[in-house]
Amino acid sequence: MIQKGIPIIFKKESWDSIAKFYGADWLKEGVTGQQCKEIIRGSIPSNSQGYIKILDNACGTGSLTLNIIEILAPNSNIKFTIDACDYSPKMVEQFDRHIQSFPSPNGTITSHVMDGQNLEFPDETFDYAYSMFGLVFFASIDKGLQSMNRVLKSGGTIGISSWSYGNFIQSFYDGYKEVTGHEWNGEDLLKLSKHNEIKGALEKNGFVDIKTVDMTTPIFVESTKGLFDNYIKTPVFLSMFETLSPEQANLFEKIVIDKFDSFHTSSRITINSIIAIAKKP
Ligand SMILES: C[S@@+](CC[C@H](N)C(=O)[O-])C[C@H]1O[C@@H](n2cnc3c(N)ncnc32)[C@H](O)[C@@H]1O
Repeated sequence: MIQKGIPIIFKKESWDSIAKFYGADWLKEGVTGQQCKEIIRGSIPSNSQGYIKILDNACGTGSLTLNIIEILAPNSNIKFTIDACDYSPKMVEQFDRHIQSFPSPNGTITSHVMDGQNLEFPDETFDYAYSMFGLVFFASIDKGLQSMNRVLKSGGTIGISSWSYGNFIQSFYDGYKEVTGHEWNGEDLLKLSKHNEIKGALEKNGFVDIKTVDMTTPIFVESTKGLFDNYIKTPVFLSMFETLSPEQANLFEKIVIDKFDSFHTSSRITINSIIAIAKKP
């Protein structure tokens, strides 16, 4: 393991520092928007009625919550609450700002600064509990899943998503290998990135009836240099970048951008993910 002390990826300050960037890029139609729509449509039946209680664990700046509001707002047979939490106060600040300008006639949204591994809600509170690209960055995924299991009602639904290796993410891993001569050997940055891992984690923590789906989502690119500059600030890629010497870092940047350029012209730059939906028995 390369890092000493708490790895960058587990520090809330790392997420705090990119909250504004997420604010601009990760919203309803942003990088995680398609996956949010897919998981909502795959888990909340369109003929639902009554009052439903939803948890958005590690909500970031609000992409899941905004999509839930948009999808459920036309259904006057549903009333809903969303409790959205994130341990980064800056993420929650951006979340609150976005929600204010997005009315939800049949829903009540409440945000919380809270550790998603130790949710502060009573047992059996929620009908649906989601964590979009959030739980996979917890120091303990098991704790996160156990906490979500505890606050879900019996018969309730969990939905989680993880990143897997598409050409975008692979460019960073390949760039790192070319520069250092070895594979990335620090903290595992892409957890639950395979179907059997995500299924195994859900089963181990008491969920049943598990379904997983692969998604490939194109990334909107204005400039490949801009893409690199934005994403290298995120805790996942910063974890790699910070271990390089200045010379290695320059070379790494060049290699990764060259790879982006080749995908950008030959096909598309894509980010791959898995979404999983399961039940609490
Ligand atoms: C990749 S972002 C995803 C945000 C959002 N769910 C989305 O899909 O756009 C990961 C989020 O997980 C949050 N996070 C990481 N560890 C956490 C923890 N232990 N408890 C709560 N939130 C956490 C970060 O602050 C960050 O907002």
